[in-house]
Amino acid sequence: MTPAADNDIAKRPGRFVVFEGIDGSGKSTQARRLAEVLGAEGREVVLTREPTDGLWGQKIRQIAAKGRQGIDPRTELDYFVNDRQEHVDEVIAPALAAGQVVICDRYFYSTIAYQGALGLDPDLIRQENEGKFPRPDLVILLEVPPNTGRRRIEAGRAGGTNQGYEGPEFLERVGAIFARMDDDNIRRIDATRPADEVFEAVLDACGRLLESTTKDNK
Ligand code: TYD
Repeated sequence: MTPAADNDIAKRPGRFVVFEGIDGSGKSTQARRLAEVLGAEGREVVLTREPTDGLWGQKIRQIAAKGRQGIDPRTELDYFVNDRQEHVDEVIAPALAAGQVVICDRYFYSTIAYQGALGLDPDLIRQENEGKFPRPDLVILLEVPPNTGRRRIEAGRAGGTNQGYEGPEFLERVGAIFARMDDDNIRRIDATRPADEVFEAVLDACGRLLESTTKDNK
């Protein structure tokens, strides 16, 4: 196991919170609000996202914008895993080692759900990712029906939904895989409610995890 996959949370001074959900579930807004509140309390916070803006992330965003253009699912999975490896090595693992709170908008649960929805085996995707990458302390899964997600994207984003990942049947399959996940670090939140109510639930989900200072855990 690489040092990046060191999952001994007791020895890890930082805290690792991940937001997950289908497109249009409101992850980015909630992640940003949590980062703002914690920052205002004087915590050292790293707000980050996947796909990243690195080279692999840029290839992935091309798929999102233009469609797959013949890229097969296994190759696409490799793009996400390569992007994540860079992200963990360069951003996530150093921040956790330094006692910071890492808030990540999407992580390997998205790979299980989205590349699983493409037809790859979700269990194999999980095994590969769990073997390589640190386990989050908390995964906040924002739940909305696919139609709600799509409506929000169409209302909010110039250019509407993207080609590669946001078709209705595809998002149904993604949502179904998210719905089956039963990891004990996942907290599900009904994200059809107004953003303020959802944020209350987010703070509640973080609860004790973020109460103790990172110093206490060193
Ligand atoms: P998204 O978070 O929607 O990016 P943006 O900031 O451009 O809105 O991510 C782009 C797409 O990538 C999204 O539809 C989900 C997909 N995705 C995967 O298919 N697998 C993954 O592992 C990740 C992280 C994202």
